[in-house]
Amino acid sequence: MDLYDAIRASRSCTTFQTRPVPEEKVRAVVAAARLAPSQSNLQPWRFVVVRGEELKRQIAQACPRGKIVAEAPVVIVAFALEDDLPMTVGGYISTYPLDTAVAVHQLRLAAVAEGLATNWIVDFHEDKIRRALQIPEGIHPIAVIPLGFPAETNGSAPSEGRKSPDEIIAYDRYPW
Ligand SMILES: Cc1cc2nc3c(=O)[nH]c(=O)nc-3n(C[C@H](O)[C@H](O)[C@H](O)COP(=O)(O)O)c2cc1C
Repeated sequence: MDLYDAIRASRSCTTFQTRPVPEEKVRAVVAAARLAPSQSNLQPWRFVVVRGEELKRQIAQACPRGKIVAEAPVVIVAFALEDDLPMTVGGYISTYPLDTAVAVHQLRLAAVAEGLATNWIVDFHEDKIRRALQIPEGIHPIAVIPLGFPAETNGSAPSEGRKSPDEIIAYDRYPW
């Protein structure tokens, strides 16, 4: 699949088929995340793949709107490891969540190439996710990612819901 086609087709999915996701497809999307760039190549991301119904239920309960999590055949939780010597962007934001976000998006694009769909949930209670998956200190959930074959495809192109180029691009000055 052409990269631009994958970018255009990458929409947030809200309903999945019950059809199981083959393990090789799960491995392929995590392999794409693994290749992401990161600050000093620290690769601070970790991914926990959840297929078990009971564990999925616990993760869904950690999300106020967790129905989609409970219903997805696979849920991948992306974590970021705190850096011992944290590098910041301009002194105001740590890079490790950013690195992990980049990896998550590579995973989401790879899912499209595999004929799958994803969503990205940040509306969760961190403590409940940590408890469900027994996550040690210094490791933070960044994204709960429901994954599966889409029950319906979102026909509209994302550009229909996006700002126009003129609204977001400027040359030589910041005009807004
Ligand atoms: C960082 C990030 C966090 C998001 N968090 C949530 C969320 O907590 N719940 C949710 O339903 N969707 C969430 N989304 C999905 C966005 O709502 C969605 O990407 C946006 O509405 C654009 O729709 P599209 O992805 O179909 O183009 C998130 C997306 C991103 C990139």
